[in-house]
Amino acid sequence: MDKRISVFNNIDELSQFFGELIVSQMQGLPEWVYYSIALSGGSTPKAIFQYLAQHFHDQIQWKKVQLFWSDERCVSPDSPESNFRMTKENLLDLVAIPQENIFRIRGESDPVFEAGRYAATVRQQLRAVNNIPQFDLLMLGLGEDGHTASIFPGNLHLFESKYLFEIAKHPQSGQVRVTATGKIINAARAVTFLTTGESKSDIIATLFEKKKGWDSLPASKVQPENGTLYWLLDKKSASKIATIQK
Ligand code: 6PG
Repeated sequence: MDKRISVFNNIDELSQFFGELIVSQMQGLPEWVYYSIALSGGSTPKAIFQYLAQHFHDQIQWKKVQLFWSDERCVSPDSPESNFRMTKENLLDLVAIPQENIFRIRGESDPVFEAGRYAATVRQQLRAVNNIPQFDLLMLGLGEDGHTASIFPGNLHLFESKYLFEIAKHPQSGQVRVTATGKIINAARAVTFLTTGESKSDIIATLFEKKKGWDSLPASKVQPENGTLYWLLDKKSASKIATIQK
C-alpha cells in the first residue's frame, strides 16, 4: 500500500488537489472506460463538491464518471439526512453528469434488500480484481470517534464482513445505514480520507501517532492492498500531529 499525506491551508486548496487528482487519474483512460468514484457523505464533502462544481465543471469529463456511494443513510432521497440529496444539491445538479452514470444507494428501500441489490449493481458496473469490484477512487470521511463510512467503533465485524455492503446503525441516533465494508474499501485503486476542522484534530493525532486504541478504530483498518491511500487534511485537522510519519 502506498500512503500519501498532504496538509492544506484550507478546504479550497484541499478541494483543488482532490479535483486535480481525479483529472490526472482520468487522463489516458480509453474512450469507452468509465472512471468510478464512491462518494462519502456527511458535511465535509459539501464544500468540496461545491468547489468541484465551480472549478472542475469542465476540467473533469463528467460524462466518463460513474458515481457511487461509500455509505448512505436509510432515509428517503429527499431527506435532509440523505447523502444523495446533499450530493445532488452541491454537485449533481451543477455538472453535466448523465443520470445513467449515477448509482445511488436507495435509502428508502428495505436496508437488507438494498445492501444486496447495491452490491450486485456495483459488481455489475465495475471491473473486478481477485473477484472483488474495484473502485477507481473511494472517498471517505472520518468521524471524531474514528468511524469511517458508516462503520463505527466496536463494529469491526462489519469492516471485516465477507459482503461488499452491510447494514450499520449510528450508535447515538440509531439511524440505520448501508455501508461499504473493508472488502470493497481496501480493494479500491485509490482511497482518499478528506478531513477538515479542529474537531478532527484529536482523532487525527490518535491515528497518526498511533496513540492508545488507534488500531481498534475502523479508520485504521483502511489499507488498500493494491492501491494508494491519500490523507488530505486541512491545517486545523492536522494541528495536533507532532510528526507526520508515512
Ligand atoms: C456519513 C459519512 C460519515 C462521515 C463522517 C464525517 O454518512 O455521515 O459517510 O462517515 O464521513 O461522519 O462526517 P463530517 O464530514 O460531517 O464530519
